[in-house]
Amino acid sequence: MKAIILKGFGGVENLVITDLPVPVISDYEVLVKARAIGINPVDIKTRKGKGLAGTLKDFDPIILGWDISGTIIQTGAKVTAFKKGDEVFGMVNFPGHGKAYAEYVAVPEAHLALKPSQISHEEATAASLAALTAWQVLKYKSGIRAGDKVLIHSAAGGVGHYAVQMAKYLGARVAGTSSGLNKDFVLNLGASIHIDYEKQRFEDILHDYDFVLDTIGGDYTDRSFNVLKHGGTIICIPSGTSENITEKASARGLHGYHFRVLSDGHDMKDIADLLEKGLLKSFVSNTFKFDNIQAAHGQIETGKTKGKIVLTIG
Ligand SMILES: NC(=O)c1ccc[n+]([C@@H]2O[C@H](COP(=O)([O-])OP(=O)(O)OC[C@H]3O[C@@H](n4cnc5c(N)ncnc54)[C@H](OP(=O)(O)O)[C@@H]3O)[C@@H](O)[C@H]2O)c1
Repeated sequence: MKAIILKGFGGVENLVITDLPVPVISDYEVLVKARAIGINPVDIKTRKGKGLAGTLKDFDPIILGWDISGTIIQTGAKVTAFKKGDEVFGMVNFPGHGKAYAEYVAVPEAHLALKPSQISHEEATAASLAALTAWQVLKYKSGIRAGDKVLIHSAAGGVGHYAVQMAKYLGARVAGTSSGLNKDFVLNLGASIHIDYEKQRFEDILHDYDFVLDTIGGDYTDRSFNVLKHGGTIICIPSGTSENITEKASARGLHGYHFRVLSDGHDMKDIADLLEKGLLKSFVSNTFKFDNIQAAHGQIETGKTKGKIVLTIG
């Protein structure tokens, strides 16, 4: 099968297309023939030796990628939830070795959901790691209730564009930050307030918020404290960008945490339901052919990706 291996941590030239044996599945896994593969910032960070590089460094070969949508062609002996021919999507083995940049991917059945029939494989794979992050944060960690005021940073990005829609679905009043270029996009996702970070300081405009999803970290975390009301919560998702967030938040009468997404088929099923009912939509701004992985990484590295980008294969 065709696979993209990482020949040492470093630049995009280290992503090399090669031929590998098709994976052998265990009893609780299915073999998925990939149709579309999602690309996320963690892929780029890991390629460069950060992100999950510490976890993957002893594997040979290393195959990056965690998001997949495709068709099941084989099921393990103890698989009960799926059958051959099912179209599925999900985030594979995160934060472990996903090996999703490949024609065939071995996936624990517990990480997958059925793909809603009316959405494409591109839209489905897009709604894996990024949508799952937004959902797990908002559902389990935010404590938000209908009527709460919620700020989503990078509202036009992968995680942000799902988080705006989900927070709105949960009944929150949503503010989102992006450049002016993406103002209409963010408002159309369901935000009622847009902050153009190139022209406005969000902390001068927004006050008494219940929750902030911080997708940027660093000084954004400190500045976001000023937006929250007493007892409010901030969750920061980029790793290593805001040290001591819990202590710093606590000193101000706030709750602050880091969060890392985990593979989970039940949560993927929630996302599938939202997609099926049209309550959640993936915005795929660009697709790249499998062989064009280096350009796809380059796009994410601009830091300006609108919604999601995906690789197509097969
Ligand atoms: N902990 C976890 O489990 C977890 C999970 C997922 C992601 N993450 C991390 O979360 C971060 C965001 O991920 P992502 O997939 O959403 O990234 P992304 O899709 O690459 O984000 C791109 C977006 O960021 C916006 N942006 C850039 N600078 C901004 C600023 N100063 N203020 C507001 N928006 C800004 C851009 O909007 P404009 O073009 O309008 O500037 C663009 O739409 C990454 O660091 C990623 O590694 C962590």
